[in-house]
Amino acid sequence: MDYDRFLNKELTGVPESPLSELARKSQHFKDAISLGRGEPDFDMPDFLKDAVTTALKANQTHYAPAGSVPGLDEAIAAKLEKENGISVDAKSGVVVGAGSSPVLQAAIAALLNPGEEIMLMDPTYMMYIPAVRTLHGRCNFVPVFEENNFAPTKEDLEKRYTKKTKALLINSPCNPTGGVFTKAEVEEIADFAVEKDLIVISDEIYEYIVYDGAKHYSIAALDGLGERTITVNGFSKAYAMTGLRVGYAAGPSELMKQIFKFNYFGHICACVPSMYAALEGLRNPKSRAFVAKQVKEYDRRRKFIVKKLNDIGLATRMPQGAFYAFARCDPFDRNSYSFVNRILDETHVVATPGSAFGPHGEGFVRFSYATKYEQIEEAMERIDKLLACE
Ligand SMILES: Cc1ncc(COP(=O)(O)O)c(C=O)c1O
Repeated sequence: MDYDRFLNKELTGVPESPLSELARKSQHFKDAISLGRGEPDFDMPDFLKDAVTTALKANQTHYAPAGSVPGLDEAIAAKLEKENGISVDAKSGVVVGAGSSPVLQAAIAALLNPGEEIMLMDPTYMMYIPAVRTLHGRCNFVPVFEENNFAPTKEDLEKRYTKKTKALLINSPCNPTGGVFTKAEVEEIADFAVEKDLIVISDEIYEYIVYDGAKHYSIAALDGLGERTITVNGFSKAYAMTGLRVGYAAGPSELMKQIFKFNYFGHICACVPSMYAALEGLRNPKSRAFVAKQVKEYDRRRKFIVKKLNDIGLATRMPQGAFYAFARCDPFDRNSYSFVNRILDETHVVATPGSAFGPHGEGFVRFSYATKYEQIEEAMERIDKLLACE
């Protein structure tokens, strides 16, 4: 049977993620080390696990009637006000979903009619690309450069703007570059969004993972930006609960009403016991200590891996946030996909090709340091040995 004619062309046109492809290939190697994964290697702390079991024992195993468990929307709105300087209506300005991924998708779906464009920084978090394409929107890639902290200038944005541009999606601290936008950089993006009358989606999932005194600034907190910004965040990275699936979007009620519908039609609600863990995390001061413990260890690994990569000849800027080192592989191979395949075949280390993050990611490789220190040491030793004679 010819299934092609039945299938969504946008979806068949999207290639498989190199992450799953390389992970599958690495299963053939018993001694494989993954620096490909984008999730904390830490386990979720016991006080959050207890919140899940308490919810289960209390038979909190049904749908959440309004899409969220009692108190969670309010706790999210209070957190945004207190930590980020963002005001949203707790009743109508917050949508909780099964991770930040589906709420991001819901936000894109709510904004774009077929053929309309959303600006993505290039390199960008790879999942934005298929999300836009499968919803029949168009990705408008804005090249961003290492020498500018991988942040777009107003000029970069202006060059790419077209009449079809509806929105712009930013992510700071950034996956894959580790860049953290400065206040001035966020203000420049904000000026552009106001001038061109665009909606901003701001993915702030790595907000707590910053180093060397770098600060995270929420664009929605700037004057005039609250009414045009959808802030997306979640609990996967901060509380090391990627498998529990809770995230949220927050912003102007008119927009959130549509995002809620898409989210609800898609999956009704996030896993209810998981939402109780998220709520406990927001209320319990122990979660700040847990985040700080993780960041301290990421920082130790960051300093090690960046020094090692530079010694090996894979030039890498010191990232200011998230848990990724974005290294230049072009002196060895201009094609990042063939470079990571060679690294995997010959050293059994998994990394992610820069080209997966957009056209301007080519020539780079992303190494995640959300992996045990000793494993990172071993991985660097193997890569060093392989590349030493080139
Ligand atoms: C920038 C960014 N946004 C969103 C996500 C998805 O997170 P969640 O587990 O909340 O769906 C990730 C995961 O790696 C990410 O790196």
